[in-house]
Amino acid sequence: MAGRIPQSFIDDLLDRSDIVDIVSARIDLKKAGKSYKACCPFHDEKTPSFTVAQDKQFYYCFGCGAGGNALGFVMAFDRVDFVTAIEMLAGNAGLEVPREAQRDSVQVAKKDNLYDILEQSQQYFRQQLKQHNGAATAVNYLKNRGLSGKVAQQFGIGYAPPGWDNLLKAVGAGDPGKLQLLDEGGMLVTKPEESKQYDRFRHRITFPIRDQRGRTIGFGGRVLDDSTPKYLNSPETPVFHKGRELYGLYEARQKLSNISQLIMVEGYMDVIALAQFGIHNAVATLGTALTADHLQKLFRYTSELVFCFDGDKAGRRAAERSLEVALPQMRDGVSCRFLFLQEGEDPDTLVRKIGPEGFNRQLSRAQPLSEFLFEQLSAGIDCSSADGKARLAKQAAPAINSIPQGVFRQLLLAELAERTGIAAEQLKEYVASHQSPGQRRTAATAPASSHSSSQPPASALPPEYSGHLENDPYADYEFDPSDGGEGDYDAAQQRRQRSKMRLSSAQFVTALLLNHPQLAELVEQRELMQLSADPELKLFLRLLKVVEANPHYKPSNIIAYWMGTHGASEETEQLKKLAAMELLQPPKQAGRDDDQEFLDALRHLQQKLARSQPAGQQIEQLLAVTRASEAQIKQLHKLWLSLSASEADEALKVKIKQYLAEQRANK
Ligand code: CTP
Ligand code: MN
Repeated sequence: MAGRIPQSFIDDLLDRSDIVDIVSARIDLKKAGKSYKACCPFHDEKTPSFTVAQDKQFYYCFGCGAGGNALGFVMAFDRVDFVTAIEMLAGNAGLEVPREAQRDSVQVAKKDNLYDILEQSQQYFRQQLKQHNGAATAVNYLKNRGLSGKVAQQFGIGYAPPGWDNLLKAVGAGDPGKLQLLDEGGMLVTKPEESKQYDRFRHRITFPIRDQRGRTIGFGGRVLDDSTPKYLNSPETPVFHKGRELYGLYEARQKLSNISQLIMVEGYMDVIALAQFGIHNAVATLGTALTADHLQKLFRYTSELVFCFDGDKAGRRAAERSLEVALPQMRDGVSCRFLFLQEGEDPDTLVRKIGPEGFNRQLSRAQPLSEFLFEQLSAGIDCSSADGKARLAKQAAPAINSIPQGVFRQLLLAELAERTGIAAEQLKEYVASHQSPGQRRTAATAPASSHSSSQPPASALPPEYSGHLENDPYADYEFDPSDGGEGDYDAAQQRRQRSKMRLSSAQFVTALLLNHPQLAELVEQRELMQLSADPELKLFLRLLKVVEANPHYKPSNIIAYWMGTHGASEETEQLKKLAAMELLQPPKQAGRDDDQEFLDALRHLQQKLARSQPAGQQIEQLLAVTRASEAQIKQLHKLWLSLSASEADEALKVKIKQYLAEQRANK
């Protein structure tokens, strides 16, 4: 039998095919707003309720519920099986269909192994800081830099001893599989041409870089003297992406339950020094420039960001770049400020000099983004002359254009109006006509701005929602397909569409995750969910695994994946329906984004699970875990508090105590 078709090929094929082309080659499609419409080819109807969404590469019929991606459409319309449909699409695209013997789950398992080998490396470095006979130099270095043992422990600081093969031997242990994992995890340098393989981190202080869930995904390593390079970082690996990760974010979230502000600093030592002085809300990019992904991640946890830069030229340049990256992220409700330190000073040296109070005072004087922006824009311009004012307006237009519509943008326009003496209305038109080509492209695909501003406020939600939201926001998420539609359905159809779809919390989070795979990283505690037998939750967890292993998947890729691995099962159908949820435009409270919706629903789900499962049972299940995560330990502490003084509960307490002691000993 031929091997499987590689998932990567199916993904690629879907990326190359446009569902609109594929459907319109078979039926007549008409453009309707953002999507395309037709009379459904899968049931008999006179008014079109069959919709194709180009951005999602997805079709759905509001009348009969048929839905899927390009592959699914070919399968259903041409009545062919999955493989034939792939062959047809590949034929259209002029591609040969490759085959493989490997299974996809291998990929997922491999990632798990990578986390595991990185954790072993971390434990090894920690241990070396305590045991290696050269550890004294490392410990002295840390002491000289004023680091307390406590903060070193909190950040997991370790020591990679001198030599070419310490880690290689200790963790690799001559096992080719382990060596390969170490290599893929970035812990080794491999030079096949010289058939050499050796430790990447040698004679360096090590800083584990942790992800949202506290898993070690890479390392930074600092020399103990003046040699170069001063810092060495893990390379990009399947689990470490510098453009998305932030040093110190995990540690900050462990310490603080509510982060009202985050401080963005430049280095590992800055984050750690601030933490030592009780300022736990500092993060750093990892020797890379700030990205939009970084900011989106940060704004999930805080609404205010203060950038801290060196006062020198390099610092200024970095600030300018950060400003440019930040502007498109300045949605209402978030803010950025800029703090420039004196030349030669960094947060590490400064906080040691002036203490946390002094540092906080400096922070409170940081420059608001708008001020810094205008300072940048008007550099070298004489804004008192008419000519200068015109130049300022011209300079400002692209910057203001890159800011999302909202109050902040209006304020900047008003400020620009004041500075240039041009009426705000006029400026608005001027600015809008000065879009960069990139901005024009995105504007063309985004809904018209008049549409977003005319969206109903929360209070205008249909009464059945308001009632629901008050009591139990996600108990049963019910939505009406005709709400918030594009207004081009006729009345008869609207009535038909009023057949409501009810979503449980588990289905709701599944639907959101399907449409926004990046939400996966918000899922932290899964212990309780994993214990549940609820098939909807199981589906959610399975989906979570798939999107974690394939972060670039679009909904259509996910459906294709499911069809490939589970066939046209009940579950695949369920997923298709859920993927279409956004086509139906679920009601949202104004100002809430998907992250919040998702997190709230998840919290609700967790609470419900916790309630439905007696503490004793939860504890027993947690105690069965061989190596507990930080989150699991926290959960145990929490459960402990809920125990009574009854005999049975006291016995449980003893068990928990023993377990925690064992876990500590194993660390
Ligand atoms: N960095 C890097 N590679 C280098 C130098 C710097 O990746 N060769 C990154 C590191 O993340 C470092 C940050 O840039 O933490 C800031 O660098 P720098 O200001 O030179 O170092 P400090 O953080 O001040 O380090 P230290 O105080 O340990 O000298
Ligand atoms: Mn420094």
